[in-house]
Amino acid sequence: MVARQIAIDGPAASGKSTVAKLVAQRLGGFYINTGDMYRTVTRAVLDAGIDAENDPEAVVALLARIDLRYRLVDGVPVLHLNDEPVILDSIRAPEVARVVSYVARIAGVRDWLRERQRETRALGTIVMEGRDIGTVILPDASHKFYVTASPLVRAKRRLAQAGEVVDGATLASVAAEIAERDRIDSTRAVAPLRPAEDAIHIDTDHLTIEQVVEAVISRVREGQP
Ligand code: DC
Repeated sequence: MVARQIAIDGPAASGKSTVAKLVAQRLGGFYINTGDMYRTVTRAVLDAGIDAENDPEAVVALLARIDLRYRLVDGVPVLHLNDEPVILDSIRAPEVARVVSYVARIAGVRDWLRERQRETRALGTIVMEGRDIGTVILPDASHKFYVTASPLVRAKRRLAQAGEVVDGATLASVAAEIAERDRIDSTRAVAPLRPAEDAIHIDTDHLTIEQVVEAVISRVREGQP
């Protein structure tokens, strides 16, 4: 079978992770979550006591001391930091969410991760999700999707994800945090969040996960870009 590269981009809490994972399973491909890579670098930055917002040089210097890559474990790509599997709870924590956009706007971080993300093409068919996959990382991807939802729907979805929001968070506070991340992600100088020109847009406000997965898979199977 021909190896396909499926790029799924979109803003925070748009549902793209759930969709990308299911699409990968059903197509027999490998699921790569580039947001997890940014989050893992952010975890290392926080653990090193670096102020990412004000000291980007220290963040870039840290990269020389860490090893980050996907390794196959029982046939499934698992993100490893310094040879240890990354504990997903530790990178989904609210303190990581607060800082990750500052880390992700540093050009040196994006350059460093770009190569590590592109390396995963060697696995075969990949479903890669992020913010700049269709535009920068895999501009030649065979299929590109841009998954969105309104800010209110995204805030509701995020609130329903245990562990990702601080205790006592409200719909309004989560919506404000998401809006702030969108602002930083879409206005940064390098690789801002935006749809690729040839991406298929899917607004998920009124769709179930299953409907979104079906929409993606049917486009891929049709062989339409
Ligand atoms: O998808 P996520 O919420 O886990 O992503 C975490 C952060 O990483 C998000 O604020 C934007 C950044 N990111 C990015 O800049 N580029 C990517 N390809 C993936 C994530």
